[in-house]
Formats: sequence, structure tokens, C-alpha cells
Amino acid sequence: MRIAIIGAGNVGGGLGAGFAAVGHEVVFGVRDPDSSKTAAALNALPDARATSPSEAIDGADVIVFALRWDAVPSTVAALPSLAGRIVVDAMNRFDGDPTRSTTQDLVALVPGVKVAKAFNTIGFENYATARERTTPAAMFVAGDDPDAKRVAMGLAADLGFAPEDAGGLANTKALEAMVVVWFALTQAHGRGVAFAISRG
Ligand SMILES: NC(=O)c1ccc[n+]([C@@H]2O[C@H](COP(=O)([O-])OP(=O)(O)OC[C@H]3O[C@@H](n4cnc5c(N)ncnc54)[C@H](OP(=O)(O)O)[C@@H]3O)[C@@H](O)[C@H]2O)c1
Repeated sequence: MRIAIIGAGNVGGGLGAGFAAVGHEVVFGVRDPDSSKTAAALNALPDARATSPSEAIDGADVIVFALRWDAVPSTVAALPSLAGRIVVDAMNRFDGDPTRSTTQDLVALVPGVKVAKAFNTIGFENYATARERTTPAAMFVAGDDPDAKRVAMGLAADLGFAPEDAGGLANTKALEAMVVVWFALTQAHGRGVAFAISRG
């Protein structure tokens, strides 16, 4: 798959490394290809390239948003229409309306987008190492669009996570709350800790 990752910071770079390691083509869409974060992401990923967000999404099978939320409205406004495009939202937001997730706001901002939330309930260091775990980490995926969910769950599986259908768009704020719990767990277990499903 050709994956456009909008943002090449901790999350964008980490996901890019993970996706490239399993054979996906990664293109970063960034505001500044020379920023220190973009340079670090590219250093770790010699086959990837960084360009503008508009160029990055051209021909991409899936678009992953890995920006700070406050950069999303202006970034989206400068893009061609995303109607019908498959988007994975890896972001969290802890300010603004406490009842609304970044995913819900993305759906409102981009009419017709096909979006699922994923990769937001764990620290970025864990994306490229998921395959090394003795117990697979769960990756919760939520959203109302079945195509976007299928793609996000497939990408999670590619990285070595156990993808879990966490329900519809209404549950995406709950996924953002889960990372608050994840942060609390890191106090005892470090940033390698992850959620997993125990079956009875
Ligand atoms: N850190 C984690 O472990 C983690 C895990 C899961 C989810 N998240 C969520 O994922 C999102 C990204 O987090 P992160 O840790 O990757 O952040 P980060 O390392 O600070 O990276 C942010 C990215 O956004 C870009 N950006 C910032 N302001 C911008 C603007 N005004 N216009 C365009 N681009 C802008 C940065 O570009 P420049 O290089 O040009 O500054 C960079 O590519 C956040 O919503 C966060 O809550 C984080």
C-alpha cells in the first residue's frame, strides 16, 4: 500500500518506520521538509520521502493523520477534497470540547471522508516493535466507515498488533480517554506497556 502520513513527528515517524518495515510505501506530508522532526523520520527511513501534504496524498491508498490537532483545520483546508478517501486518525486531543474527539471533528471538517481512529492508545515507540512482543498488544479501531475500519485494522495487524473493533465513531472519544489510562500505567510499567485482551 502507498501510505501518506501527514506529520512526521513522533507518531508519524514511528508509524512510518513500522509500515515501511513490512513493505508499505511511505510518503510524509509535512509543512517543512527540512524540520528537525522530518529529518529524524527520514534518517530512520531511507526509502521514504517528505513532500507537501497535497503531493503526499496524491495516489495514496490511505492517509494517516499524525498532527497536533490545532494544525489539522489549516492543513485540511489546503488539501484537495478528501471526500471518499480513506483516512486513519492517530491523534488525541485533551483540550477543547471534552465530548468530541479529533475523529468526530475530522468527519465534520471533511464531508464524505471515510475515517477510522487507530494507533492513539499507545506510545509512539511501540509501533515499530509490536511484532517483538510475547503477548500481542491490542490496537483498538473505531469509526462508522467499514472500509476505513477494515484498512486501519489491516495496518494494525501488519505492524503486529491484535486489531480490535472498538465500535463506531461515538466511541472515538473513549479511545482518546484510554490514552490517559495508558499514561497512568506507564508510571508502573514504563512506555512499553500496552493494552491486551484477555478472553474468558
Ligand atoms: N507521542 C505519542 O506517543 C502519541 C501516541 C499516540 C497519539 N499521539 C497523538 O498524535 C498526534 C501527534 O503527536 P506527536 O507526538 O507525533 O507530535 P509531534 O512529535 O510534536 O509531531 C507533530 C507533527 O505535527 C506537525 N505540526 C505541528 N504544528 C503544525 C502546524 N501548525 N502545521 C502543520 N504541521 C504542524 C509537526 O511538524 P514540524 O516538524 O514542522 O514541527 C510534526 O510533523 C497528537 O495528537 C498526539 O496527541 C501521540
